[in-house]
Amino acid sequence: MHYFENEHLKYQNNQLYCESVSFEKLAHEFGTPLYVYSKNFMTDRYKEFANAFSKINHKIFFAAKSNFNLNVIKLFSDLGGGIDVNSAGEFFRTIKAGVKPKDMLLTGVGKSAEEIELGIKHDVLLIKAESLGEVYQINELAQKLGKKAPVAIRVTPDVDPKTHPYITTGLTESKFGIPASQAVDMFIECNGLSHINLCGIDMHIGSQITSIDPYVESVIRMVELTKLIQAKGINIEHFDIGGGFGVKYLKETPFTPGDLAEALVPIFMQLDCEIYFEPGRSLTANGGVLLSKVVYTKSNEKKNFIVIDAAMTELLRPSIYKAYHHIQPVVRNTKDDIIADIVGPVCESGDYLGKDRTIENMESDELVALMSAGAYAMVMSSNYNARCRPPEIIVDGDKYFLTRSRESFEHLLYDEKIVDGLH
Ligand code: LLP
Repeated sequence: MHYFENEHLKYQNNQLYCESVSFEKLAHEFGTPLYVYSKNFMTDRYKEFANAFSKINHKIFFAAKSNFNLNVIKLFSDLGGGIDVNSAGEFFRTIKAGVKPKDMLLTGVGKSAEEIELGIKHDVLLIKAESLGEVYQINELAQKLGKKAPVAIRVTPDVDPKTHPYITTGLTESKFGIPASQAVDMFIECNGLSHINLCGIDMHIGSQITSIDPYVESVIRMVELTKLIQAKGINIEHFDIGGGFGVKYLKETPFTPGDLAEALVPIFMQLDCEIYFEPGRSLTANGGVLLSKVVYTKSNEKKNFIVIDAAMTELLRPSIYKAYHHIQPVVRNTKDDIIADIVGPVCESGDYLGKDRTIENMESDELVALMSAGAYAMVMSSNYNARCRPPEIIVDGDKYFLTRSRESFEHLLYDEKIVDGLH
């Protein structure tokens, strides 16, 4: 079978380690399922990105939607990054992580009046609008609050990023942003509003993009557009290219931040703007593992099944995108490989983590690692089947920290009760 490793998640004496801590030790102490993140993987990815673009005036805003663990947010903030928050909930978490609103971008296609007010009241760095109606809404709310709101408008460059249709966002038919064809008129109209400081232009063409070409094509279009807008006397100070930088889940060969910088920096140089980036997955995905345990194995004439204690509730991506996450034993054994479906305990046929996988034959109680679970794993988890969310551990060298404990049944009830008068 194939083993998935990187500098911070690798086998030592046939045991899988996160940095200097074995997954076996973590499973023993905290049980399974369990999310485990490598601090140094995330730090390295951030620094690699920042170094690649060090020649230009830029700022990296970590997309908290990919992993909103408070300590992960704080880690990127401590490294000098800002945070891209997509909702009042993410704003709240980011504040709890100790980040100042002036280091946050407020994004999202359908921000409510309450969310916009929150952003204006707390003076977030930039509010990104996705429609003319939203810009008018921001203007009105800013007026009510006696402020001038810093605004960027998201434009769809209409370039196909060739990724999964559910995570493609830069096409005109997508619900995001405004079409490039309407951009100049809309910027002129919005620039006349009294309580808006229209200072940015923004794009985000999709996620898990592994080729540089769609970025180059989009950025060329957007730079031209920005020049046209600036020629109308509108002071665009920030150019935000969004995130979406792809990672290796199996065989992908994504570009590096260095490759991206080489292709884009000369184009950015044509503009006198600060360049913003909003990476999520590329900073976190391969620094995380969902650790699980085999509950049962079984076979019929057609299939082998390995039933594990993690499910679509902890890692939804295979169920909804047919996404691939590599699955491997925590302790390498010498048994022959089999081909098996690796499935969870949830009562859905769609609850699988891997189909037709070549994997060492495993037995009940053996530990398995679901790789690339640092992004869009915990954040997309649910309590379906009244399952409790797993704890989250962050490893730093030979130290490890429980950042959130396992949910309890009481947790699941919140304040729900049998109500008087109904029965
Ligand atoms: N900025 C904006 C405006 C976004 O909408 C997103 C992701 C990002 C930045 C960060 O993108 P990243 O660098 O992480 O690709 N649940 C899906 C991914 C949805 C991405 C949504 N937007 C998945 O599991 O693949």
